[in-house]
Amino acid sequence: MAGATPRIVILTGAGVSAESGLGTFRDVGGLWTQYDLNEVATPEGFARNPALVHDFYNARRANCRGAAPNAAHEALARLSAALPGQVTLVTQNVDDLHERGGSRDVIHMHGRLDTALCGSCGHRWPAPEMMTPDDPCPACHAPETRPDVVWFGEMPYRMDAIYRALLRADLFVAIGTSGNVYPAAGFVAEAREAGARTLELNLEPCDRHGAFDETRQGPASVVVPEWVDEVIARLT
Ligand code: APR
Repeated sequence: MAGATPRIVILTGAGVSAESGLGTFRDVGGLWTQYDLNEVATPEGFARNPALVHDFYNARRANCRGAAPNAAHEALARLSAALPGQVTLVTQNVDDLHERGGSRDVIHMHGRLDTALCGSCGHRWPAPEMMTPDDPCPACHAPETRPDVVWFGEMPYRMDAIYRALLRADLFVAIGTSGNVYPAAGFVAEAREAGARTLELNLEPCDRHGAFDETRQGPASVVVPEWVDEVIARLT
């Protein structure tokens, strides 16, 4: 790592929120085993049946409100506080548990449940608890309200900021993600090419675990605080 204070890019997936009670997607019983992602997580599915899609995200928004951040979310907030300006936290998750666990400036590359988006004018506002297809946009009044979530086939948010951080990283850490969905699944290769060390923290090695210099296996609420405490101890 360059200098005493490493530049760290962290990518989290559904596994970091699993112990907070929010479902993952591809584990046994995961969301994509209960719903057809083509119906609830694509622009085409939304065009076909917006009420079904709103119901899907209304249920996840309610689930999220009833959840609490776990020790992994809190440890990552501690890390950012110990390394001001040196940690870039990117999440694929649409929940706000990183923020409720104390993290700031989280990059939500797949959007977030607590924001609504106007499909017509691009206006964003805090999402109400329940959204319906008829909600008018507060800015342009068009009935084109949608969840501010990036669906399959859409461009994830803030990719330029993410790639800039990967190019400068000394360490890339993937936490609780199966490495199934691009572009996030490609970040480990981007980081390696830029000279970063790579670490995976996961309940079980993901499909791409061979791409990492090191893999630590265990629940995020255990392995993430352990790793964060090691990094902070090395600084003192
Ligand atoms: N601690 C750590 N890791 C865990 C835990 C846990 N308690 N429980 C599950 N995991 C790991 C699984 O081993 C798996 O690698 O979390 C990962 C969950 O994988 P997915 O369900 O595929 O979730 P994710 O990788 O975040 O999916 C990426 O796919 O469907 C899209 O947009 C959606 O953001 C999502 C993206």
